[in-house]
Amino acid sequence: MYGIVNKAIQELVSEQFGSDAWIRVKQKSGVGVDFFSSNEPYPDDITFKLARAASEELKLPLDEVLRAFGHFWIMRTGKERYGALMEAGGSNLHDFLMSLPQFHNRILLMFPQLCPPEFVVKETGTGAMEVHYYSQRQGLEIFVQGLLEGLGLLYNTPITVSQTQTRANGHDHAIFAISWQ
Ligand code: HEM
Repeated sequence: MYGIVNKAIQELVSEQFGSDAWIRVKQKSGVGVDFFSSNEPYPDDITFKLARAASEELKLPLDEVLRAFGHFWIMRTGKERYGALMEAGGSNLHDFLMSLPQFHNRILLMFPQLCPPEFVVKETGTGAMEVHYYSQRQGLEIFVQGLLEGLGLLYNTPITVSQTQTRANGHDHAIFAISWQ
């Protein structure tokens, strides 16, 4: 994944647990990269090693790290670094979710070697939607849960996100049911 993802893990750990904690996470991960460049693609393995090392070092379940990373990615990386892009996605949660299937098309312009997730969204009622998540990567479903919760925070809209289908049961994609008032 592009270095911006690894950098965001670094920022999350450093801000919440201190820069020494990040140094220990990086040592534990065995990742020998001193500095991540946002616009450079790195092997996915690096990102997963960093997340696993953070889980071990901070004594938090990996799922909790990935979910917190989803919140951070929306509220800090997305909102603060790419505010205009996020705003172009929609002015409320409903509109943003409706535009989610196209969202990474714009990001592809900035990061041409992106291997983006794919989303299909279905309105299931008033204030209710299903988000179908397809990926070439394994192990990121809980990150998506965190991202969707992060969107609720971004739009100041209390939401419930529950996963109703997982690839762990042999399905080809995951489904999240989202509802809000
Ligand atoms: C401005 C905001 C965003 C930026 C700049 C961004 C950028 C990226 C980048 C660089 C990657 C790494 C993929 C690669 O390098 O091949 C990525 C992955 C991903 N993004 Fe985004 N993204 C943004 C917002 C979102 C949002 C709002 C969602 C969903 C709610 C999302 C869902 C994902 C997922 C699930 C992945 C993991 C890739 C996979 O599942 O295979 N992103 N994104």
